Amino acid sequence: MAVVVLIFFITTLGSSICHQGLDKSEQRTIPTEFIKKLYDLTIAQQTKEDVPLELPLRLYRKKGVFSSDVKLYFHGKPEFAEARRLMNLFDNNMFATAWVTSSLLEAYHFGNAPKPSEEHLMLALNSFQVHKNKNKPFANSAMTFWPQTYDASVNYWQSSPVNLVAAFDMVSKLPLNLTMEAMKLVGLGDMAKYVKQIVESKDMYLQAFHIPPDFDDTFVNIGLGSLLFQMKEEFSNAWSLWNKLNSNVTSVFDDLKKYAYRPFSKDSLVNYIDPRSYYYMRYFLDAAAAKGQDLALVTTWIQNREELQTESLKGVQMPFNVNNVDITVCANTVFGITSAVLSGLVSPNVLEDPEIAVMATVYQTLENATNHAMTAYILSQARPAGEENFYFDDFLGNGDLTSSGKPLNRGEDRIFTTAMAVNALIYTWTEYDKSTKKSSWKAGTSDIVKQVVDGSAQWLYKHATSGHYEP
Ligand SMILES: *[C@@H]1O[C@H](CO)[C@@H](O)[C@H](O)[C@H]1NC(C)=O
Ligand SMILES: *[C@@H]1O[C@H](CO)[C@@H](O)[C@H](O)[C@H]1NC(C)=O
Ligand SMILES: *[C@@H]1O[C@H](CO)[C@@H](O)[C@H](O)[C@H]1NC(C)=O
Repeated sequence: MAVVVLIFFITTLGSSICHQGLDKSEQRTIPTEFIKKLYDLTIAQQTKEDVPLELPLRLYRKKGVFSSDVKLYFHGKPEFAEARRLMNLFDNNMFATAWVTSSLLEAYHFGNAPKPSEEHLMLALNSFQVHKNKNKPFANSAMTFWPQTYDASVNYWQSSPVNLVAAFDMVSKLPLNLTMEAMKLVGLGDMAKYVKQIVESKDMYLQAFHIPPDFDDTFVNIGLGSLLFQMKEEFSNAWSLWNKLNSNVTSVFDDLKKYAYRPFSKDSLVNYIDPRSYYYMRYFLDAAAAKGQDLALVTTWIQNREELQTESLKGVQMPFNVNNVDITVCANTVFGITSAVLSGLVSPNVLEDPEIAVMATVYQTLENATNHAMTAYILSQARPAGEENFYFDDFLGNGDLTSSGKPLNRGEDRIFTTAMAVNALIYTWTEYDKSTKKSSWKAGTSDIVKQVVDGSAQWLYKHATSGHYEP
């Protein structure tokens, strides 16, 4: 996560520099050395060589992946806060790596961050080979979050988190009662309860660690391919490798249609969804029903109930045995489709397919939402930090108590959330000129938007590497 956050600054700050000179002189610059420093810190997070698993000493690190850690959201009393801050487990997944790589390319393309070296891009892209779904008899670009390994006993490829599985195995071999008694003795009785719950839910977790390919990773990979295609003169080796790994890009559109959630369909294979998804979108579904609209929504897992029946026996099983609609997955899918069409990676003909067009024709809705409701919300969340600077908080680190029971705000996601807010405003309110390679504010952008972007970039400049805030 740390890396993702850092790379967000690069894009943010890179863009904010571009605005310099184009707008009122009151905007403050971010030194190029600072952007270089963020770039170097990010690159340092890429694993250069395979590091094998040797518990309890060493976790597996796959060559090419950028760091991301699994953490648990303990919060409240000081010991819980410490557990949250100290416990982390290195995870090898393609999402973080694809995301960071895309951000490095965007920061270079749209901002003035250093040009990523092809060596780093190739390391990242090569690590994706084991994420391409190998359980189909044809080339496809369905991607799995965790690497797939072959299980000869069932003749099938399975996607599973090596370090998490090993850690669960190790912990479940500890004498649980003894561990709990020991924790109670040293005053960690409250936490012992949670440790027990987690260990006792081992089977539930292990089952959830056999996931099918998903549309999140699939379309982040398409977004990355679109960027490389756009910059193929500058990164010809990286583009060639991506292109070789993705010889059948349009397969993702077939999957998109096949696995869409169709609430008004009579087909029982596509008209059901995780009740949690239904719960949050029930009013949206009701409104569509009232207007007689048909709906096809992007799901998370590339698996349906029929496939689940045979694949679960071979170690490929969507969590809770049911698909869901996740807004962030939908957002990455819209991003992937539009990037692919706009960059020319795929022919605009894919949009002639009415179903794909419906899933992608979101511009007007999104434009209205980002220009009005989203912008107003973000501005309302900006917190002043002196010298006309601003920061943003979400939730991480804001739910703790001091030893005397008073609320404590640690702002542990302050860097990340501030960078996100600035990026959202910049993407909404600037346009990029290909010929001059500069971004500038759109006509009619309010001064307050400009001030908040500028003030937040300054806050990031001051704090992103100060060590005062997580990560
Ligand atoms: C662990 O403790 C529970 C009650 O807290 C008890 O039922 C169980 O038998 C204990 N297990 C062992 C192995 O001592
Ligand atoms: C591409 O994917 C489609 C399914 O989406 C499949 O039918 C087709 O055979 C694949 N083409 C190749 C060349 O593998
Ligand atoms: C635009 O968004 C506002 C809410 O921010 C809503 O009231 C309005 O109906 C939307 N307009 C269109 C054309 O969707």
